[in-house]
Amino acid sequence: MSTDPGVLAAAATRALARQQHHAARALNLIPSENSTSPLARWALATDAGSRYFFNTTGDPHGWAFPAAQHASQAETGLTLPLLRLLTGAAHVNVRPLSGLHAMTLVLSAWGGAPDTAVVTIHPDQGGHYATASLARRLGLRPHLATGPDPHTLDPDLLHHLVATHHPHLVYLDQSHVLFPADIATAAEAIRAADDHTVLYADVSHTLGLVLGGALPNPLTAGAHAFGGSTHKTFPGPQKGIVATNRDDLADTLHRAQYDMVSNHHLAPTCALGLAAADFLAADPATYATDTVAAAQALGQALHKHHLVPEAAERGYTATHQLWLNTNPAGIPAPAAHRRLTAAGIHTNLLTDLPGLTGTPALRLGTAEAVGAGLTVQDMDHVAALIADAVHDRRPAARIAADAADLRAARTSRWQLHRHPDIAPLLTMKESLA
Ligand SMILES: Cc1ncc(COP(=O)(O)O)c(C=O)c1O
Repeated sequence: MSTDPGVLAAAATRALARQQHHAARALNLIPSENSTSPLARWALATDAGSRYFFNTTGDPHGWAFPAAQHASQAETGLTLPLLRLLTGAAHVNVRPLSGLHAMTLVLSAWGGAPDTAVVTIHPDQGGHYATASLARRLGLRPHLATGPDPHTLDPDLLHHLVATHHPHLVYLDQSHVLFPADIATAAEAIRAADDHTVLYADVSHTLGLVLGGALPNPLTAGAHAFGGSTHKTFPGPQKGIVATNRDDLADTLHRAQYDMVSNHHLAPTCALGLAAADFLAADPATYATDTVAAAQALGQALHKHHLVPEAAERGYTATHQLWLNTNPAGIPAPAAHRRLTAAGIHTNLLTDLPGLTGTPALRLGTAEAVGAGLTVQDMDHVAALIADAVHDRRPAARIAADAADLRAARTSRWQLHRHPDIAPLLTMKESLA
């Protein structure tokens, strides 16, 4: 293999070009991914990506790193105000690099001294695989809240765990989530056991649904703070946020963040503000309700093709996710996944879905497709393409071409780059020189 940098770079550039070409045609149903808008992508390629920004108070003498002065205005003048507006929180920390990084900061800032108990969610109820082990790495003692089924947390057990162990923090997170935990009930159970325990809701997967109002705002429901990834149901760049109304929590978080994040990646932070503007301009409530309605419609339509998603008796889902065990239809999930991928339909192949632990199954999500302009009515067509691929009824290339045609016939919801005040700026020669 050549080590000529020009040859290697050319091959890598071709690979990235192929990625672009394929991404525009594929149907991405991976629930932990989303596509950022053209405007946010533009920000990712700007000079902001080469800069440090520390002077968040705007102190005229505080520019130890002055090269970020212009780009930083996007963070302070757009990203922060719009995220405060969307979250309804007085404080939003936009310095985490991703959801797991936000988790690290929150556990470190609010989890207490080494050997303090922390309550998190059992993976059988959708808790993130890393939360308990990360807590252990930080010296905390995790206890896992569980429930009677994959979709329910037992409030009495939660009360018991808090009353027994007096954790500083209950870290309520769900990665695999069809029916999100009832935060109001959890908050009440925690409050009754220990009034000092902080309840943090990690809504990495459902942030866009929360900010669009399809799911309750955790702060209104009784959590003290919430946050997570900005790139799953929220159509932002790959970043993380933490929002709270409590000054003391914002302060301790800021102090942990100051020690743990030096470069917070300014370009994605600016892109996050532009994605938030795109989100607001595109009617977030409709995007969020359409995303959930599309997942439910896709569940129903797959069911008609004898591919039956989990929780059919409950309407399949109340989020963007669907879990599909293809074994009962006679197709092992690894084969189904391979065929779907070949047909340009991207899904997760997982073995840790609650209720299906150890059984390979597919996890699907509708957020990116709905952002790309697909409608609830399109889900019959999408289900037919999935069924054709899973059952190997037509050549993969034909199914992929149909998926690409469907994509091409729809218009992305994220259109702010066409705004008359913005469009000319994006084509300015020096804008990306
Ligand atoms: C609840 C939760 N927390 C954290 C993460 C990690 O997020 P990221 O991949 O952005 O680091 C995820 C990812 O799925 C998640 O679902």
